[in-house]
Amino acid sequence: MNNPVRGRLNAAILAAARGYDHFLSGQRKRTLFAALPDTVVEIGPGTGTNFRYYRPGTTVVAIEPNPHMHTRLRRAARRHGVTLELRAESAERTGLADASTDVVVSTLVLCTVPDQAATLAEIARVLRPGGRLVFLEHVRVDGWYGAVQKAVERPWRWLFEGCDVHRDTAEALHKAGFADLTVERYRVRSVLLPINPQIAGWAVR
Ligand SMILES: C[S@@+](CC[C@H](N)C(=O)[O-])C[C@H]1O[C@@H](n2cnc3c(N)ncnc32)[C@H](O)[C@@H]1O
Repeated sequence: MNNPVRGRLNAAILAAARGYDHFLSGQRKRTLFAALPDTVVEIGPGTGTNFRYYRPGTTVVAIEPNPHMHTRLRRAARRHGVTLELRAESAERTGLADASTDVVVSTLVLCTVPDQAATLAEIARVLRPGGRLVFLEHVRVDGWYGAVQKAVERPWRWLFEGCDVHRDTAEALHKAGFADLTVERYRVRSVLLPINPQIAGWAVR
């Protein structure tokens, strides 16, 4: 259940940050999202930040539980010529059929889902054999930078409704039992200190 104030605030922040996200991650996302099929499932699409990278005509099955995102999400779909199938479900329980999709997209969502292991199991369940999870996520780090993440962890999680800057998502992906995993680790030049480092890649079922 989203907080009525923070839920709306996060939708406004995401919408305002679209250009910044494109500046930070646009090149990488273009590469990651090249050659996607006609239909993709996107978990936690927020306000549709990724829609600009999808081919017009793509059908996006959007699993977005925060209702305050929905108006902007529909608007982004219209703007980018994407056909939206919006489901107000969670990534842990999408309601999609077993082995029903070739691609699941997750950007900056595995940090926030309340149950990351259940989410990865659900993604594996809905992917066809050979299908892939395409991801871009911020992850935990050790050392002084990790201490910064630890220091801001609680207020950050409160403000951004569950976003945990100290999650070891790479390790969770390794444990999730995908057949093949490609992970690139890198830093973005962001003023938002705790959302570094990041990982991007794909996990094949
Ligand atoms: C930081 S935002 C990222 C939004 C978008 N993916 C992007 O890259 O701009 C996190 C998103 O995950 C969504 N979310 C939170 N919990 C979720 C869950 N259990 N299942 C699916 N989405 C969830 C939030 O509502 C929000 O839209």
